[in-house]
Amino acid sequence: MIHRDDPSQPHHRPVRSFVLREGRLTAGQRRAFEALWPRFGVAWQPGTPLDPVAVFNVPQPVVLEIGFGNGESLAAQAAADPARNYLGLEVHRPGVGHLLLQIERLDIANLRVMRADAGALLQPPPAGGLPAASLAAVQLFFPDPWPKQRHHKRRIVQPAFMRNVARALAPGGVFHAATDWAPYAEHMLQVLEAMPALFENTAGAGRFTERPASRPPTKFERRGERLGHRVFDLVYRRR
Ligand SMILES: C[S@@+](CC[C@H](N)C(=O)[O-])C[C@H]1O[C@@H](n2cnc3c(N)ncnc32)[C@H](O)[C@@H]1O
Repeated sequence: MIHRDDPSQPHHRPVRSFVLREGRLTAGQRRAFEALWPRFGVAWQPGTPLDPVAVFNVPQPVVLEIGFGNGESLAAQAAADPARNYLGLEVHRPGVGHLLLQIERLDIANLRVMRADAGALLQPPPAGGLPAASLAAVQLFFPDPWPKQRHHKRRIVQPAFMRNVARALAPGGVFHAATDWAPYAEHMLQVLEAMPALFENTAGAGRFTERPASRPPTKFERRGERLGHRVFDLVYRRR
């Protein structure tokens, strides 16, 4: 039997936090890829460097959002915070197309879009792309919860991933996560509290945070709220 997640095996495949379901692009999203990707999209090949500051016209602190979904909360946040630049990361093409259309419609100057796997982008060089200490903040809102025990290894918040986030964050930079899946919230807390040399919990050790006003509600969050789910925010500062 081949163990595909074991790097010592010849057919090793990294465990991914997503399953690509391409979904259909609407006509508008197709047009967005043709007309707007050249203006607002950031192409990146694994194994090549990417200076996140150079992606924008104005050099300002950069916030990276992982898994923006349809991008509506990211567009709202970027539009309300013009003094920082926002780089949105998503693997799902229709979501990327949707956000490109919003950037055009709302005329948002400080937001760019990448279609890439965060696990790959955040790896240290030579595999990954971001220089150390190049980000002011990393935000991860409602990552796929992977509720089944056998899928827990797919959860993006793992010690190795968080060490890569810490590497990319500038000292004093912020990691902000939110989830409506209580067992995943506890898992995140456990992973982050075990890294006291890298991260300090801004709410005090072992505590969740009230949703900061700067985080607009997301599509996935609203769905959870309709199901009666409580939302957990975690805000950690890079030491
Ligand atoms: C549950 S959805 C939440 C979307 C959005 N943040 C919201 O709250 O509405 C999680 C998203 O993360 C994206 N995703 C999962 N793993 C990713 C990765 N490694 N890199 C980039 N995006 C990822 C998925 O494609 C999906 O759109």
